[in-house]
Amino acid sequence: MKMSRISGLYRLSASDRLKIVAENSGLSGDEVEAMKTGGITLDQADKMVENVLGLFAVPLGVATNFVIDGREVLIPMATEEPSVIAAASNGARMAIAGGGFVTSTTQPVMRALIQVTGVEDPYGARQAILARAEEIAGRANERDPMLVSHGGGVVGLEAEVVASKRGPMVVVHLLVDCRDAMGANAVNTMAEALAPFIEEITGGRVYLRIISNLADLRIARARAVFLAEEIGGPEVVDAIVMASALAEVDPYRAATHNKGIMNGVTAVTMATGNDTRAIEAGAHSYAARGGAYRSLSVYEKNRDGDLVGSIELPAAVGTVGGATRVHPGARANLKVMGIICADDLGRVLASVGLAQNFAALRALATEGIQRGHMSLHARNVAVQAGAIGDEIESVASKMAAERRINVDRAKELLRDGR
Ligand code: MEV
Repeated sequence: MKMSRISGLYRLSASDRLKIVAENSGLSGDEVEAMKTGGITLDQADKMVENVLGLFAVPLGVATNFVIDGREVLIPMATEEPSVIAAASNGARMAIAGGGFVTSTTQPVMRALIQVTGVEDPYGARQAILARAEEIAGRANERDPMLVSHGGGVVGLEAEVVASKRGPMVVVHLLVDCRDAMGANAVNTMAEALAPFIEEITGGRVYLRIISNLADLRIARARAVFLAEEIGGPEVVDAIVMASALAEVDPYRAATHNKGIMNGVTAVTMATGNDTRAIEAGAHSYAARGGAYRSLSVYEKNRDGDLVGSIELPAAVGTVGGATRVHPGARANLKVMGIICADDLGRVLASVGLAQNFAALRALATEGIQRGHMSLHARNVAVQAGAIGDEIESVASKMAAERRINVDRAKELLRDGR
């Protein structure tokens, strides 16, 4: 049984929610425990990074209502920001009537960059490198026979001469199909191993040899049709198209528009033990690839007057290697989503990014985002003031109605109610 449309989940206790998600996803007792406790012990943490002191917890929630390529998917999200998970679930719910999210991806190709300096004849050096492309690829593949045995490995070589304030340089890009790995380890190892050979070919000096996080060859796309009647009518469609038009041309708006997208994308990246900084760097550099910073998504009105949203972003994530493999919480979260390969995860990221973005634009186009934010904020303030159980909701809703949300007022309301 895999279903994502679980209504009223928000009304249950955290442990009842987890029970439902565990049954839905066939989680073992250990996996449930990993989700509940954060997944790693102090000992495990001590092996992951340096100078470990403890663990730093972030809430893990689940977004509901996602239908991605016809499949219902429950989506674990790790985030400290209120409203994000509710908004993603709402956005996904409003996409259902139009058929849910339809995705596509490229092959999982990453770039490693090798910087060659100090050559008298950079254009000649460029050609010398390209002429030995097969030999270079062979040498790189020798560094990762495992990747090659899984169908990955070098798929291309590019070389360009770039002007810099320190004179011309040749920049070599090794294009590597990383299969289900994020790929940083694989491509960095290859690039480092190739450096002496590239120096031999060119007579130059290699400095940098490192992955590019502008993963423009590893793209995930998602599209969804939001029926006008589902989202509040033709005015809402027009308002969202208008908001999108601004984000397509104005970097100040595009930054916030894309931040909203990354609210969802980063939360899922985090929940699966992937490198959130790589995903952020990829998204923002991709948004600026045309020379100006633009939105990663676009909204249009179709012939029927419905809203069509589409998004495209780099998806440098893996399901093998690194923390994705060793972090029991990350493995449990992948299982909840029914994800078996990195390509699946890229499709989820694009869909979540679009749902999150749509929900934010819809809120901005209608009542604004503050009401939703404020009611969550009010609940936090009620808890700070000592509210427990049903008191939290009752104190929070009174403060929200009065538009007086502070700890002193919460304490007064608590005293009155007890
Ligand atoms: C807040 O975290 C995200 C939004 O600002 C995104 C947006 O403005 O589109 C609501």
